[in-house]
Amino acid sequence: IAHGKPQRETPWWRGHVADLVARAEAGTPRYVYHLPTVRARARALRETTAIDLRFYALKANPNPAILRTLEAEGFGFECVSLAEVAHVLATLPGIDPARVLFTPSFAPRAEYDAALAKGIHVTVDSVEALQRWPESFRDRAIWLRLDLGRGDGHHEKVRTGGSDAKFGLPVAKVNAFVAEARKLGTKIVALHAHLGSGIDNPSHWRDVFADLASLADQVGTVDIIDIGGGLPVPYTADARPFDIAAWRAGLDEIKAGYGRYRLAIEPGRYLVAEAGVVLVRATQVIEKDGIRRVGLDGGMNVLMRPAMYGAYHGVHNLSRIDDAAISAFDVVGPICESSDVFGRARMLPAASAEGDVFLIADAGAYGMAMANTYNLRALPAEEIIDV
Ligand code: LLP
Repeated sequence: IAHGKPQRETPWWRGHVADLVARAEAGTPRYVYHLPTVRARARALRETTAIDLRFYALKANPNPAILRTLEAEGFGFECVSLAEVAHVLATLPGIDPARVLFTPSFAPRAEYDAALAKGIHVTVDSVEALQRWPESFRDRAIWLRLDLGRGDGHHEKVRTGGSDAKFGLPVAKVNAFVAEARKLGTKIVALHAHLGSGIDNPSHWRDVFADLASLADQVGTVDIIDIGGGLPVPYTADARPFDIAAWRAGLDEIKAGYGRYRLAIEPGRYLVAEAGVVLVRATQVIEKDGIRRVGLDGGMNVLMRPAMYGAYHGVHNLSRIDDAAISAFDVVGPICESSDVFGRARMLPAASAEGDVFLIADAGAYGMAMANTYNLRALPAEEIIDV
């Protein structure tokens, strides 16, 4: 069909520039989250009846206001540590434990025991766990996490399937796992796979569902199929937005053939990435060997993604938002590492100067969650906008 390529919608913060500049007065670096954007993304994932269970992967952003917002939108929560589990239970008192899923990786036995005792869902991804800790799993219901032999995603560091990845039981070991589970009276009630993050292929999830459903037919006791998270967001200005309608259509179609299974998803990034920005302030502008650099008061300590994955985040000078962005600058932070670079040759207003408030875009997922105190820098502040 011949139609123009879908454009990114205007980001929410374009309507809040004066407010954001004012908020920066209270101190930078500062994360700001826009709850209406979180709600809009949550609703985009609800426009299908194919999905029965939605878990938000709170490793992306555990901010309590975001958890409350997504709980109100009908989401449960996927946790990768007992501390995340405790955070959900403390933030949302009275939440039904059945809305919490624990997907540990190489956790000690005590963590499985604690999670099972709370009545939350727990994934297991090795035969070794059942063999070494039979009393932990005897007569329990568990979810089996699988490695479908392939990974996908925006960077090799976020692929969680295939031999090089530490996650998941390989399909070749399913029979051994089922036999071991049977011995213990352990019931496999769900099959789970999360193969990576930032996967820009709408049919990925329907393929994962199909693979898991055919395995579920073999296992026999399965009720739920969890196809993971990994939905991407457009980070660059000219990026094509993820085709969420095609994603939903794929799930509708595949679910129609496997109505006996309940379908679960566990997205993180898609729900929160575009809702978050970081406010930082320019410290110095320095020219060296023909390269002009603008330094900001937060760097890879505040937002690690560019240094860790070469990830792109838009950089905007809010103090001069009406000036043409016609001069190339490298945008750097204050950290004692050469990788402390937000972007190279970014086009910014020529007059960009010390004291200007800058905005780093699309930082709501894996931003504050991965912030750290390297060089003994304080963690950023966080605040919410709900209009
Ligand atoms: N479920 C499981 C089991 C996961 O391991 C993850 C993410 C998710 C769900 C949510 O994935 P999402 O929908 O957010 O793609 N720090 C990296 C991403 C690491 C993802 C870790 N696991 C980044 O900033 O790109």
